[in-house]
Amino acid sequence: MSSLAVLGCMWGDEAKAKIVDFLGADADVVVRFQGGANAGHTIVVNGIKYVFHTIPSGILYPETKCVIGAGVVIDPYSLKEEIESLEKLGLSFKGRLYIDERAGLVLPLHKKLDNKQESGLGAGKIGTTQRGIGPAYADQTSRTGLRMIDLAYPDWLNDRLQSLYASHEIAVTTPELEAEIADLNRIWEYLKEYVAPVDSLLLEWYKDDRYILFEGAQGTMLDIGFGTYPYVTSSHTITGGISVGTGIPPRCVDKVIGVYKAYATRVGEGPFPTELKNDTGQRIRIQGNEFGSTTGRARRVGWFDSVAARYSAQINGIDSMALTLLDVLSGLEEIKICTGYWILDTKLKRFPIHPVALSSVQTEYLSLKGWDKDITDCRSVRQLPKAAKEYLEAIQDIMEVPIELVSVGSDRIQTIVVK
Ligand code: IMO
Ligand code: MG
Repeated sequence: MSSLAVLGCMWGDEAKAKIVDFLGADADVVVRFQGGANAGHTIVVNGIKYVFHTIPSGILYPETKCVIGAGVVIDPYSLKEEIESLEKLGLSFKGRLYIDERAGLVLPLHKKLDNKQESGLGAGKIGTTQRGIGPAYADQTSRTGLRMIDLAYPDWLNDRLQSLYASHEIAVTTPELEAEIADLNRIWEYLKEYVAPVDSLLLEWYKDDRYILFEGAQGTMLDIGFGTYPYVTSSHTITGGISVGTGIPPRCVDKVIGVYKAYATRVGEGPFPTELKNDTGQRIRIQGNEFGSTTGRARRVGWFDSVAARYSAQINGIDSMALTLLDVLSGLEEIKICTGYWILDTKLKRFPIHPVALSSVQTEYLSLKGWDKDITDCRSVRQLPKAAKEYLEAIQDIMEVPIELVSVGSDRIQTIVVK
């Protein structure tokens, strides 16, 4: 076994980074393969909180190599800031951060376009993180985008940037263009030491039996193809995204752990069948500190949705689950798991892909007893209250996938390995 993928399997914010960090102790390499600074990956070690947006979470381990693959879109200005602020916290990047030459660039115009598109959609907006992600990926796909390595070719960069503005019918003056090129040249001088042929390096390391960990961002229900389109992000967040986002052959992904919250959350717009718009939802939101680490927005909260969860397990071919934030449910009298969707008098056999269908489903629930005890100090399943164990068993039975890890707090040590 030399590679492992840790993927968010719902609508993002599943505490993937916590799991990546826990498993990362043994990893030689941690790789981001999609998304960009829309991600907000939070890790707490010894009471210190770190939030990563584009940098792989593995950077906390001083010996671990960190890789940003071709499938990521990089805002070079925010990446520079992220590196500098983490360096201030004592983390080192020299010789261990590798950025693929092909990674797409998120430029200031993409953020403006993101903002403009969202305002234009009015009530139909997606609720994006406003990081320019959608417009940057759209430009990559329409072949007008800029990539990391373009920064090394000033004349080419100049022409491409000019065409990019023209393609969006945005007028720029020559001094504005020159100023932006000068900024990008400065950024290149700063970032170029990290730019590398990531595809070849990853395969070499894999063949060398190094342990490679792929860190997903967002989640399956936000995948551009298989998520709740159009209320999704613009990248492939699923197992299939690893190969297209790194250049490593699909067969080199040896194991997939799906990360699920013990309840569900969603930030932004779009259907959310198990959403709790009541006191219970508010209580979970407060208890779980369900406010975005990238945008600060209050997250929508709901019960664990096994219909969506089984769908994402299928799409990703997960081998096991990590169940996070179980401690947040402590103190609830009753805990529910959604076990089926109905439309009129028909129980659906599959997860419905159309937003109109998904917003109109009636949810069927299994009701379980809650537990009172604070479980943040539990370090084995045995120490958990009976009701919490029953909750885990119910999820495992419905999912037909084993639970491998349970998280009972944000700190690295608040993790249960299920034997
Ligand atoms: P992590 O990696 C939760 C959501 C946005 C919006 C939709 C599209 O921390 O789990 P985008 O800015 O990507 O075009 O927004 O996707 N979204 C996330 N939700 N966690 C994230 O990342 C997200 N990244 C994007 O809220 O609904
Ligand atoms: Mg997030």
